[in-house]
Amino acid sequence: MPATPAPAEFPEDLTLGIRELDDQHKTLFAVLDRILAVSRDPYRQLDDDGTNTVLDIMTDLKDAAMQHFDQEETLMDQRDYPGLDDQQEAHERFLDDLVRIEADLMNGTAVPPVRLHADLADQLAAHVREMDRELAQFLNKSEK
Ligand SMILES: [Fe+2]
Ligand SMILES: [Fe+2]
Repeated sequence: MPATPAPAEFPEDLTLGIRELDDQHKTLFAVLDRILAVSRDPYRQLDDDGTNTVLDIMTDLKDAAMQHFDQEETLMDQRDYPGLDDQQEAHERFLDDLVRIEADLMNGTAVPPVRLHADLADQLAAHVREMDRELAQFLNKSEK
């Protein structure tokens, strides 16, 4: 049986130095990591119980993501951030993906948990590393 991958530590290079955003990003990754603990073998397709548990996690992830995106976008709006539209689009895309994954889970066509986790973690990490970092740099600069 393949070893269960350890949940990813919050990568240091995703820390932006803006407490509120960092905490929210950590929460998103923590919710995501719960996917890996659902089944004994995350490389295997989920059974019915596992599917229901992952659906619950997806609901939590969607709630946490919507709350975070909302706060991030409010901050951008308040500070007249020029990249707001692009961020909004990227946030929408992520939420659309979650809805698509929920549908896959419901018709039994979802990828195994380890893939599901990796795909979402990669997507989220790439967003934070690129777009959110650019935002953080803007916020830090305009504060001075
Ligand atoms: Fe973010
Ligand atoms: Fe963002």
